[in-house]
Amino acid sequence: MNSATTTTAFDPRELESKVQDMYRDVARDPTGDFHFEMGRALAERLGYDPAELDRIPAEAIDSFAGVGHFFHLAAVKPGETVIDLGSGSGMDAFIAAFKVGEGGRVIGVDMTDAQLEKAEKLRKDAGFGNVTFEKGYIEEVSQPNGTADVVISNGVVNLSPTKDRVFREAARLLKPGGRFAISDIVTETQLPDTIVGNSTLWAACIGGAAQQENYRSMIEAAGMRMETVEDNTSYRFISENAQGASRKFGVKSVSLLAIKR
Ligand SMILES: C[S@@+](CC[C@H](N)C(=O)[O-])C[C@H]1O[C@@H](n2cnc3c(N)ncnc32)[C@H](O)[C@@H]1O
Repeated sequence: MNSATTTTAFDPRELESKVQDMYRDVARDPTGDFHFEMGRALAERLGYDPAELDRIPAEAIDSFAGVGHFFHLAAVKPGETVIDLGSGSGMDAFIAAFKVGEGGRVIGVDMTDAQLEKAEKLRKDAGFGNVTFEKGYIEEVSQPNGTADVVISNGVVNLSPTKDRVFREAARLLKPGGRFAISDIVTETQLPDTIVGNSTLWAACIGGAAQQENYRSMIEAAGMRMETVEDNTSYRFISENAQGASRKFGVKSVSLLAIKR
């Protein structure tokens, strides 16, 4: 597959509702049975600083379903504006909120009501005045051009069948020279239709993973220059099905930094 927009064997609305169902469950019952790991042990293994995790709401960490750590690449500074694409229960947004401080702001965007409700409750209870969560699609964010110094995202772009649109949207949201620092799932070898066409594996962050060179080309075509790509070797899937796909096709987690031209 070389096209930027993936043709799926299933209706995009079916995928959206599968993704929403899965991440509603992640928000409401992170101890349930998933193809992927979640929570504090995962976050620490991926490289999150325990002292930073101690400062944010524990329930946001319980529902953390990211795939890597990118804050060392993002280098978020006081006073900056950060947009988190697919903010889930808010863990990365809350960490970013401490980094930007009171003079900065963080905007989390997500399409799943249960995730937004949880993130908003935690935000309010903990008194994060510099964070807002908004309902929306990462392909079409309701913020003006050049809003952000930094766009972050963790384990989300792989879920979109139109990744080229997500990357163009990230570039539109960034100021010139702004940083796109994300973690996501990609593959070494193009996945076969049997996996791409399985909406459950797609919603579990496997089926929608793009081949890594295609992924990079889409980012560069959107107007960003790739600076760094790192493999997150400590990320692993937990179901047998997912582990099999991972071994066979090189499904893996990467963190990357790209700069808006
Ligand atoms: C794997 S979870 C990661 C959540 C969060 N970044 C974290 O690290 O815990 C994926 C999140 O992306 C959201 N999502 C997936 N596709 C989306 C889209 N097209 N637009 C907006 N949100 C989306 C889901 O609702 C879910 O909350």
